[in-house]
Amino acid sequence: MPYKIMKKVLLGNGGTLFEMDIFAPLIAKKAFAGNFILIRINEKGERIPLTIADYNREDGTITIVVQIIGKSTLLLSHQNEGDEILDIAGPLGNKIHIEKYEHPIIIIGGGVGIAPCFPQAKELKEAGNSIIAILGARTKDLIFWQEKMASVCEKVIISTNDGSAGIKGFVTKPLKDLISKNKISLVIAIGPMIMMKNVALLTSGIEGLSRVKTFVSLNTIMVDGTGMCGGCRFSTLDGDIYFACVDGPDVDGHIVDFANLLKRADRFVDQEKNSLECYDSECKALEKLNKGS
Ligand SMILES: Cc1cc2nc3c(=O)[nH]c(=O)nc-3n(C[C@H](O)[C@H](O)[C@H](O)COP(=O)(O)OP(=O)(O)OC[C@H]3O[C@@H](n4cnc5c(N)ncnc54)[C@H](O)[C@@H]3O)c2cc1C
Ligand code: FES
Repeated sequence: MPYKIMKKVLLGNGGTLFEMDIFAPLIAKKAFAGNFILIRINEKGERIPLTIADYNREDGTITIVVQIIGKSTLLLSHQNEGDEILDIAGPLGNKIHIEKYEHPIIIIGGGVGIAPCFPQAKELKEAGNSIIAILGARTKDLIFWQEKMASVCEKVIISTNDGSAGIKGFVTKPLKDLISKNKISLVIAIGPMIMMKNVALLTSGIEGLSRVKTFVSLNTIMVDGTGMCGGCRFSTLDGDIYFACVDGPDVDGHIVDFANLLKRADRFVDQEKNSLECYDSECKALEKLNKGS
């Protein structure tokens, strides 16, 4: 069954970041924070994992926020309102654990990782928690959903690498300040692997800071999303092996062997580059043909 795109919104940065509402009532009915979908745009497309960044059970829609990074995300960006996506599998992965914590929770979103923070903040807030969000990006244009996050958080702190908005520097700067001055029950970090690695290091109890339980959301390579292909395998610092799709994607950040994970993330770079170049030249040839006709 094809899935219709009900709404598309560009989120800045020259259109490399966009939001889509997709009509998928059965998925919307069962979605919770932490879940993701596997999406295949057309019959020749690969399946790529994307987080369910919001859901509306009444309207039967799910929301995704996508950063154009290679061929499939570029192809998806070429789809518009009214277009249909061939297939979507989900909701996949584990929903996050929800409980009422004693002290505030800090939720950190880096870049496109800001989007999956929203349903987590919303559901944790509904359980009576007090949430502080730290939203970080390279530059101001890449910060989005600030108001949406503010609607479910006590406080939203912005940090940008270049200082164009909020605190100048990485998200770890306001995080260090918060955990050194306040009692915090939980930290959740979603974003680039290197950001999650550094957050987990900071909350592990270094530099005389207290150790704070930390969850990270692993954006490993995924193929089937059901624990069978091994693509999303990750190891812990104790040498145990897990699969991000069925054991996560949200996992205890203090057990993850990030060095190994960062090495594995680069293993298809040549093929990905090649595939994007082929798609680009196909697009240009088609454009030329259309102009000529
Ligand atoms: C659980 C999960 C949730 C995610 N949620 C989002 C989201 O909400 N928004 C978003 O923009 N991105 C999300 N991603 C990342 C997204 O899946 C990749 O950006 C996308 O697959 C890139 O495909 P591409 O063909 O455009 O790029 P490619 O050129 O193929 O790859 C570029 C980079 O994207 C990553 N990637 C490529 N293929 C996969 C794959 N099959 N699985 C995972 N990563 C891959 C790799 O790091 C790779 O180096 C998520 C990943 C995971 C695992
Ligand atoms: S994506 Fe295949 S085992 Fe997780």
